[in-house]
Amino acid sequence: MTTTEPRATARRVGEPPSQEMLDPAERMGVEELRALQLGRLRWSLRHAYDNVPHYRRAFDDAGVHPDDCRELADLARFPTTSKADLRDNYPFGMFAVPREQVRRVHASSGTTGRPTVVGYTERDLDTWATVMARSIRAAGGRSGDVLHNAYGYGLFTGGLGAHYGAERLGCTVVPVSGGMTPRQVQLIRDFEPRVIMVTPSYMLTVIDELEKQGVDPRATSLRIGIFGAEPWTEQMRREMEERLDIEAVDIYGLSEVMGPGVAQECVETKDGLHVWEDHFYPEVIDPITGEVLPEGERGELVFTSLTKEAMPVVRYRTRDLTRLLPGTARPGMRRIEKITGRTDDMIILRGVNLFPTQIEEIVLRTPGLSPHFSLELTTRGRMDHLTARVEARPDCPPERRAPAAAEIAKGVKDVVGLSIEVLVVDPETLPRSVGKLQRLVDHRERA
Ligand code: DLL
Repeated sequence: MTTTEPRATARRVGEPPSQEMLDPAERMGVEELRALQLGRLRWSLRHAYDNVPHYRRAFDDAGVHPDDCRELADLARFPTTSKADLRDNYPFGMFAVPREQVRRVHASSGTTGRPTVVGYTERDLDTWATVMARSIRAAGGRSGDVLHNAYGYGLFTGGLGAHYGAERLGCTVVPVSGGMTPRQVQLIRDFEPRVIMVTPSYMLTVIDELEKQGVDPRATSLRIGIFGAEPWTEQMRREMEERLDIEAVDIYGLSEVMGPGVAQECVETKDGLHVWEDHFYPEVIDPITGEVLPEGERGELVFTSLTKEAMPVVRYRTRDLTRLLPGTARPGMRRIEKITGRTDDMIILRGVNLFPTQIEEIVLRTPGLSPHFSLELTTRGRMDHLTARVEARPDCPPERRAPAAAEIAKGVKDVVGLSIEVLVVDPETLPRSVGKLQRLVDHRERA
């Protein structure tokens, strides 16, 4: 298969991998997987308790011991772990192995205070490459593909995580990292990658640059986009599939649990992300009461690592909101519904909750408007006020702008019941992302 048979190749992109291509765990039935998980979970709880003072204290305080975990449901009796626990143990206090056995650290910047540090043993790095390779394969990537990796390299887990997974799968990796957008386009034109890995917001920036350089985005060699690290909607999927003529699939992960490759959407179904449950055990809890919710109910996603050596996590609260669903393309592994928000991103405006993704959905179905928008919170009088600035598409006639703004304001009013101000602004006037996009600025006066 070469990139010179464009349309024929495109049609074959969504084919599922053959059974022989899958890892043994991907072929397991639910019962077999549960048995594997229970054995691993008991090891992981014991490993955390024996080697991390924080977990010993937390378990003792909660009156539980690793031996109390006799079935998977017993996990609910164990205390949860938060980002604050990781910060309090900065930098290496959560490590369960001597520092000499830690081969690599990553860190997430965090908006305030200390970063969160995570560590990996040699075996952890091997596991990570395995689940990332599995993810890229589930997205439709294959050994021999050229893969353009525009996730940031460095302390962020995106770049190196994707890199080693792609190498493990047998891809030719182009380790571009984020930024220097004109060069990204040059490399896409010259190296003809079939797969791109990048945040969805930066993909939009790259699409604009392709157009600026006179390249039809639909005519590039790209056939698969593996997008994650930030929330994105079904409307955004359609926008990118349409503009780039690719399959756009979702990848999820977080540093504390591993990095990218914790859960992945399968290209043949695109119906939520399969959690690689042989390594990461998911629960969904009520974010207020902490109670474990049944499958199908929405709440906060919580993970327990099953095999991690350097930094096991027990019931780590991700703050991501989703629900668990039964497996489809990989019947043994549960799915999480596409994550459209995190508790931290939720805007509480005059007592009503609003997620930026709800605005994204409305913007993208409004003719004449581009996917580039930003949100600003201010105080007017004694009231909180939200202004959405949305760029017009370059071909949007001037007389279309006011009606488009009104349609968005009405859409938000209808969907969430809030009045917001909408301004349609000139193309290319809002800040562009080179990685994770910060859509919201909060200029509210604090009492
Ligand atoms: O963003 C890891 C990653 C890199 C995932 C590349 C996918 C691709 P952190 O910087 O620790 O790690 O941020 C983790 O990002 O808790 C979610 O809130 C958000 N996030 C990650 N993937 C998705 C996604 C990486 N597919 C935090 N959809 C997570 C929505 C996502 N949010």
